[in-house]
Amino acid sequence: MQIYIVILFLSLVKAAVFSSNTKCVTVHGTKYEEELLKDGVHNPYQLAIDYDTNTLFFSYTAKTTETFKIAYLSLKTNDYGLVTGIKGGFAIAINTETHEVFMGGEDGLYKFDYTTKSASKLNGITDKNIWQMFYKDGLYFTTYPQEKAFLYKNNNLVEVPELKYNIMLLAVKNDGNYVYYNSSGLFMYDKTLLKSMNIADRVVNGITADIDGNLYFSSPGGIYYINPKNNEIEELFTDDNIYGVVVEGNGNIIYAKDDSIVRLIPTKKDCWDKDIVQLIKVP
Ligand SMILES: *[C@@H]1O[C@H](CO)[C@@H](O)[C@H](O)[C@H]1NC(C)=O
Repeated sequence: MQIYIVILFLSLVKAAVFSSNTKCVTVHGTKYEEELLKDGVHNPYQLAIDYDTNTLFFSYTAKTTETFKIAYLSLKTNDYGLVTGIKGGFAIAINTETHEVFMGGEDGLYKFDYTTKSASKLNGITDKNIWQMFYKDGLYFTTYPQEKAFLYKNNNLVEVPELKYNIMLLAVKNDGNYVYYNSSGLFMYDKTLLKSMNIADRVVNGITADIDGNLYFSSPGGIYYINPKNNEIEELFTDDNIYGVVVEGNGNIIYAKDDSIVRLIPTKKDCWDKDIVQLIKVP
């Protein structure tokens, strides 16, 4: 019986207070609604934006072959397609100064060519199954299943000396300090203090930098911002089944859900915020 009361109560609340079917989230007091950028992509992971060409890259699982593929989607023209020439493509990172788009596959490093929409092998590194990549002063990447962190710079490959732990995801802050995730949690390695500290205990499935180098991460239940000064974590919003996040040049958040990629755009519509409904549900 109780369940009916709750449902009735919820629908009354929705009807009375929000009178809308549009779902939205509130970030810093502004309401945002979802805009569908791409659907029919299964478990899209690692997103990256080339700010120069305004192209979104992401990897997803091809249902037919159960292998990873990388797709591109022009945010300017909607031109969409699969990147060819890469085996088990999973990771993407962009050098914003040279405009090089790097990709990681199950057999090493590749570079993307816009004219042919294909990726070709970078010399030398063929024995690494690449899990995630991040570009800062060089190309950082982690491997699977070893979970080791490497730096590729000036045609030279080294294991990141300060990070000889298991590392699944790696990012570099503007101050040069590392943020990394392993099965023990999210950590920040301070290059001055020469030590790591735990900054969050959530499951992290994606980490990204915006155009200014500020870091964000996704967990299956929400999107978070890492305050660059004190490394405190700020929850921007919650949602279900999030797979990855990236931030557009204008600050809009784009994120991956189980079978789609959505962008959050500011809205003035009447809409209901899942978090508000949850708050009301508690008593
Ligand atoms: C994760 O990193 C922390 C901090 O560097 C380290 O103490 C811990 O052993 C690592 N966990 C694993 C599973 O390697």
